[in-house]
Amino acid sequence: MKLDKIVCHCKRVTNGDIKTAVEQGARTFAEVQEKTGVGRGCKRCIDAATRVMEDCIEELQA
Ligand code: FES
Repeated sequence: MKLDKIVCHCKRVTNGDIKTAVEQGARTFAEVQEKTGVGRGCKRCIDAATRVMEDCIEELQA
């Protein structure tokens, strides 16, 4: 995963920002949103951001 890739253009949130939120304990989209602001604009990124979050959680648990 490219950490500097922007997943949410409205709020300029990158894959790396989501990864950091997961590393800090976020386990639901709401918690990731709380920490990053992801998906608070047009909401078109929500599916993609959710997948990134799930990948990061899986990675941590591997
Ligand atoms: S791209 Fe994330 S809210 Fe618009």
